[in-house]
Amino acid sequence: MYTLNLKEMTQQEFLDEYWQKKPVVIRQGFKEFVDPIAADELAGIAMEEEIESRLVHKKDGQWQASFGPFESYEHLGNENWSLVIQALDNYSEEAAEIIEAFRFLPHWRLDDLMASFAMPGGSVGPHMDNYDTFICQGSGKRHWRVGDRGEHVEFAAHEALLHVEPFDAIIDEVLEAGDILYIPPGFPHEGISLDTSMSFSVGFRANSAVSVLSAFADHLIDSEQGSQLLEDPNRQVVSQSGEVSNNDYASIKSQLQSLLDDDKSFKRFTGQFLTTAKHELDTLLPDEPFALTEVSNLLHSHAIKRLGGLRAFYFEDTIDQGLCYINGSELEFSAEIANGVKLLCNQVLLLPDELSDWSHNAAFIELVTELLNQGYWYLSEAE
Ligand code: SIN
Ligand code: CO
Repeated sequence: MYTLNLKEMTQQEFLDEYWQKKPVVIRQGFKEFVDPIAADELAGIAMEEEIESRLVHKKDGQWQASFGPFESYEHLGNENWSLVIQALDNYSEEAAEIIEAFRFLPHWRLDDLMASFAMPGGSVGPHMDNYDTFICQGSGKRHWRVGDRGEHVEFAAHEALLHVEPFDAIIDEVLEAGDILYIPPGFPHEGISLDTSMSFSVGFRANSAVSVLSAFADHLIDSEQGSQLLEDPNRQVVSQSGEVSNNDYASIKSQLQSLLDDDKSFKRFTGQFLTTAKHELDTLLPDEPFALTEVSNLLHSHAIKRLGGLRAFYFEDTIDQGLCYINGSELEFSAEIANGVKLLCNQVLLLPDELSDWSHNAAFIELVTELLNQGYWYLSEAE
């Protein structure tokens, strides 16, 4: 278990002072931090087809980048390269534990856990990100420089590397195991490994309003709600046919607005959108589908665990109507089990004790059986 140690600062004080506002180094944010995964295991994961990974190195002063899967790392030598793996939480239960320390932020804001392994001198170069990130230093040391927000010129140092022009540092520190660097979006930064090192970044992404609007339009088209024509049955004769009247403009705008104002439809879209996995899930399908009676028995002796990377949310005001969202789909359930479903959405691991109110409930067992059979939850030893 990783426990975030903010020293004299409360989590709310951290949010008020730093979140989305300014970067900060939290020394020993994780006390006695031990890498949740070994470097060679990480290198092995990046050899697998479905993993999103990237190698960055410098050759003759030129930045180079390539995407996995990788067959070997031998040609890279012992310095100046780094390997980055996205969505490690989908593949390593141990590494996913790091995310649990950041549950004071809502899960819908979470993007993924990224791991970075670097040889001495290794770096992905100076760049900016459009997400909030907590870079948790694992083994080894890394020298981090972070610049202030501002007008920074970005350029392609390589076709797969968007870098930023040199910047003055407002943070210039060496991180050691257990130290955490929080960086909000838009602050240029660069980390250079001083020895062989690992870091684990918990990223929180905010979608741009435009990307949400574009996804909403796709959703309306896919669900055949997008075919309604702009209407004008009460049309009056015009004398200036080149003019778009104020009334017509207001009517176009309000017909568009009504799509957003339809809360039922927009909420369904938002729930589906926020729970859609960005990275492939490593679904654990059971060998044989579970039967209801079997699940009812197992819930008394086993914990159930949510698949790494799976997103499951509910809205504050519709959970009691029996609606939640799991992995891109809206799910309806009997409203009597709303509090049980909240547990599923709020906690990655649920022990038999925590489910004692629900493990006799037929509707809850039916839902859990479905989720186990979809490979979205799995049985885990109750510790
Ligand atoms: C890295 O750890 O190599 C890069 C992380 C980042 O800058 O976001
Ligand atoms: Co970055």
